[in-house]
Amino acid sequence: MAVLSLLVLASIACAQTANLFPPGSVVGYPGPTPTGIEAFEVATGPAAPAQTNYFPLVRFRPSDEGANGTYDPFAVSFGNLSPALSLPPATFSPDFVNSSALIPPQCTLNQVHLLHRHGSRYPTSGSAPASFGVKVANNTGKFNASGSLSFLNKWQYGLGAEILTPFGREQLFELGVSFRVKYGYLLDKFANGTLPVFRTTSEDRMLKSALNFAAGFFGIPYEDQYHQSILIEATGFNNTLAPYETCTNGNNANSAGGSAAVNLWVPIYLKDAAARLTAQSGGLNITASDAYAMQQLCAYEVNALGYSDFCPLFTQEEFKGFEYTFDLSFWYSNFFGGPYVAAQGIGYVQELVARLTQTPVAVHNSTTNSTLDNSAVTFPLNQPIYVDASHDTVISAIIVAMNFSSLAATGPLPTDHIPAKRSFIVSQVAPFATQLAGQVLTCTEGNSTESYIRWLLNDASLPLTNIPGCAADPYGRCLTSTWLAAMKQRIQQVSFANDCLANYTIANVIGANITDGRPPKSAVFH
Ligand SMILES: *[C@@H]1O[C@H](CO)[C@@H](O)[C@H](O)[C@H]1NC(C)=O
Ligand SMILES: *[C@@H]1O[C@H](CO)[C@@H](O)[C@H](O)[C@H]1NC(C)=O
Ligand SMILES: *[C@@H]1O[C@H](CO)[C@@H](O)[C@H](O)[C@H]1NC(C)=O
Ligand SMILES: *[C@@H]1O[C@H](CO)[C@@H](O)[C@H](O)[C@H]1NC(C)=O
Ligand SMILES: *[C@@H]1O[C@H](CO)[C@@H](O)[C@H](O)[C@H]1NC(C)=O
Ligand SMILES: *[C@@H]1O[C@H](CO)[C@@H](O)[C@H](O)[C@H]1NC(C)=O
Ligand SMILES: *[C@@H]1O[C@H](CO)[C@@H](O)[C@H](O)[C@H]1NC(C)=O
Ligand SMILES: *[C@@H]1O[C@H](CO)[C@@H](O)[C@H](O)[C@H]1NC(C)=O
Ligand SMILES: *[C@@H]1O[C@H](CO)[C@@H](O)[C@H](O)[C@H]1NC(C)=O
Ligand SMILES: *[C@@H]1O[C@H](CO)[C@@H](O)[C@H](O)[C@H]1NC(C)=O
Ligand SMILES: *[C@@H]1O[C@H](CO)[C@@H](O)[C@H](O)[C@H]1NC(C)=O
Ligand SMILES: *[C@@H]1O[C@H](CO)[C@@H](O)[C@H](O)[C@H]1NC(C)=O
Repeated sequence: MAVLSLLVLASIACAQTANLFPPGSVVGYPGPTPTGIEAFEVATGPAAPAQTNYFPLVRFRPSDEGANGTYDPFAVSFGNLSPALSLPPATFSPDFVNSSALIPPQCTLNQVHLLHRHGSRYPTSGSAPASFGVKVANNTGKFNASGSLSFLNKWQYGLGAEILTPFGREQLFELGVSFRVKYGYLLDKFANGTLPVFRTTSEDRMLKSALNFAAGFFGIPYEDQYHQSILIEATGFNNTLAPYETCTNGNNANSAGGSAAVNLWVPIYLKDAAARLTAQSGGLNITASDAYAMQQLCAYEVNALGYSDFCPLFTQEEFKGFEYTFDLSFWYSNFFGGPYVAAQGIGYVQELVARLTQTPVAVHNSTTNSTLDNSAVTFPLNQPIYVDASHDTVISAIIVAMNFSSLAATGPLPTDHIPAKRSFIVSQVAPFATQLAGQVLTCTEGNSTESYIRWLLNDASLPLTNIPGCAADPYGRCLTSTWLAAMKQRIQQVSFANDCLANYTIANVIGANITDGRPPKSAVFH
């Protein structure tokens, strides 16, 4: 009875508060609201816009860098924990010095395909940063750290898990705004009466990323301006934006190459740091693994809190070593060096071919969902703009499936040193809010007018010259028909049933020297 009357009182109070704060739709008086023409910066701008900063996070300097130093570890060395910044045009080939997101001369833009990652997030539940927090908490009062480490005497682990940080929300909002300013004109090309369908997955940070993008792209309220398709991300569900949910070999010993490589590298590059920090700790044994956790804390705390006392503990060389842990981890588990990676990404390529040929996916033998993909409502084939949200390791797998093999040019990554030449750097490929954009163009060369496609990764053109029939081009273009033929062939070659689902073992994933994202000859099938 008492509970009931409390509930009644609470709901009356709630209703009264609502009356005091009516929504804008009830208040009215919005003033004039005319909209202008759609922006089309990639066609009309004198220069392409560039994402160059990560406001409001604070720049820090490694312990051995002067105030005049130019090395910014957060921007370029934090792998998939870096913010997506526009890459210099020639990042992936010197041929592209004059290329940008601007539409090439003699071309018009028909369509854009955007695949982007969620924004900055808190660490995975129970991962190394949280475990280090437990170790410190267990020992607080038993050690007395000094110097730059003295903050540890009072420090407590306080990060959330899995969901977006406030900065992550900003990244997706900004991506949505920038995409509207670059490509808004294509909205006028949607058939009258149809709304765009954009896709994401059900995970909290994925859905919130997509909604923050929509808020930036459409403005609020965005609900009546597009349809958000939310693909279920959970074990056993077919999902091209979360293909690991059905790829068995991506979740067993065949996926252990990345962590094995990192475990070999960490004691090498952090040996000195572990000794130095232990000497400063006043009684806490800081191992190389702990130092690695502290570098991860630096990354996650900057992303979540704007700064971190852990960052200035490390030297420039140690941050370069840290960067390389991400490259090793991805290469052997989520890039050309992993045996199931092409198969994880191939479902998305099947969808891409469906969209580009306006022909539904015929065979559902990878991660596509026939219920969703065979419907023109949930998977339209005629949109001028496509926007899909996904994860770092999925976007890297899709890059493998699309066979952007120039990123694998320098081959398997050694685990005992950082090689001088590296074609693959995770902070370029899969940072927070990374964007892979495909432009479908109509270009006139001499007397012929043809359809071309090109791909930009964080605004830098990706080479297609490895694709049979794609000629060198200063803007990274290839004839759409030629590129599509290569993708159709790739779909025939890459077998999800074999690469993801077959029972095979690889004695040593690192030593197997995989460079095509498929099982090596040395794999033993049972
Ligand atoms: C930064 O300043 C230091 C000390 O003044 C000087 O030795 C060094 O050459 C400078 N470095 C750069 C990159 O300007
Ligand atoms: C870039 O543009 C400049 C100026 O037009 C030109 O001289 C140069 O050859 C171009 N480089 C490439 C690789 O296309
Ligand atoms: C922390 O202390 C708890 C309880 O004593 C213990 O179970 C756990 O293993 C310790 N963890 C670390 C990382 O030291
Ligand atoms: C920690 O060490 C400093 C000297 O480095 C000393 O002044 C301080 O009293 C010590 N604190 C504790 C709690 O032992
Ligand atoms: C939609 O309708 C408007 C007004 O009738 C027209 O100008 C426009 O071309 C139509 N758009 C498309 C894509 O058919
Ligand atoms: C396909 O998607 C539908 C709609 O979300 C869902 O109900 C169904 O379980 C999915 N099927 C598979 C195999 O993932
Ligand atoms: C510190 O930890 C390492 C690795 O667990 C161990 O080998 C070493 O004996 C420990 N040192 C001290 C002083 O406890
Ligand atoms: C899900 O994928 C499996 C394996 O590729 C396939 O056999 C199945 O038909 C798919 N289910 C749906 C609903 O698309
Ligand atoms: C383009 O067409 C004109 C007129 O038909 C012809 O004279 C010219 O040779 C053609 N140029 C090329 C490059 O095919
Ligand atoms: C789907 O099946 C076809 C044969 O019907 C095969 O060639 C192709 O490799 C398979 N695709 C995938 C992604 O497994
Ligand atoms: C992998 O490459 C290394 C270095 O080139 C070589 O020693 C080794 O035999 C190769 N392993 C396989 C399985 O090809
Ligand atoms: C794979 O094959 C091995 C060797 O026959 C067997 O021991 C293992 O149980 C199989 N694994 C699965 C998941 O079927």
